[in-house]
Amino acid sequence: MRFEHYGRVEDPITAILTGIGRSHDLTIDDLAPVDEFHLGGAAATAALVADLDLRPEDRVLDIGSGIGGPARRIASVVGCEVVGVDLTPSFVETATALSELTGLADRTSFVVGDATRLEFSSRFDAATLVHVGMNIPDKPAFFAAVADRLEPGARLGIYDLMATGDPDRLSYPLPFASDASEAWVASPDAYVAALVAAGFDVAEPIDRTQLALDATAAASAAGPPPVSLATLMGPDFDAMFTNIGAALRGGLLAPVQIIATR
Ligand SMILES: C[S@@+](CC[C@H](N)C(=O)[O-])C[C@H]1O[C@@H](n2cnc3c(N)ncnc32)[C@H](O)[C@@H]1O
Repeated sequence: MRFEHYGRVEDPITAILTGIGRSHDLTIDDLAPVDEFHLGGAAATAALVADLDLRPEDRVLDIGSGIGGPARRIASVVGCEVVGVDLTPSFVETATALSELTGLADRTSFVVGDATRLEFSSRFDAATLVHVGMNIPDKPAFFAAVADRLEPGARLGIYDLMATGDPDRLSYPLPFASDASEAWVASPDAYVAALVAAGFDVAEPIDRTQLALDATAAASAAGPPPVSLATLMGPDFDAMFTNIGAALRGGLLAPVQIIATR
């Protein structure tokens, strides 16, 4: 399966570097407004990392790594190796280039691949899934495939938009789907059931709506950044942003974190 939804901007690297106005001395914070493609941005990734108890010697799999913001932040904060896998070739190419430009290419790498068929020969010490599960139809099969690629005792950190109301009432486009045919939003209870069926011990889900709202308010107060998710997703992003705001306010979706241990 390929999502036309992602990869709409033909040359994201040029768009990002043109927006920032330079290609040297780039930091993960320069890139955060465009490469942390989820509600709450860098703050939400930082919260997830803090709850995962990662160690510098860990090898982490970031599933649905986008253009690499979460992977670079994890590698940078923890000092560990992160491998990203994503379905969208232009995102993988952009992630690889941005890791070179931020000096993190020795600790981060990115491959094109389908999260539902994790074709890695080795197992990982931890995994992350950030705003990707909404694009995955069969969650029990997916979490079983993830469990198969994790060492015993490894942690899986999930931060997804989950259903807290009737998904049939969602308006599209959303940042993760152009229409309902690309969206498989599930409730926190459905995630927990799928994880338990795959053999994980699951901690209580944590609603991160307040963290996401606070981060969005802080970003607005700081004024428009030189790059944003519109740089990556094109002019339709305004409509996506409006619809996701309405879904949160209407109680249909919430950003939820779940930590599961294999
Ligand atoms: C909303 S973005 C989140 C990207 C990244 N995790 C982040 O937070 O910045 C969703 C990403 O999931 C990827 N994706 C969706 N379905 C996938 C699948 N079956 N396998 C791998 N990647 C997938 C998309 O290509 C896209 O990059």
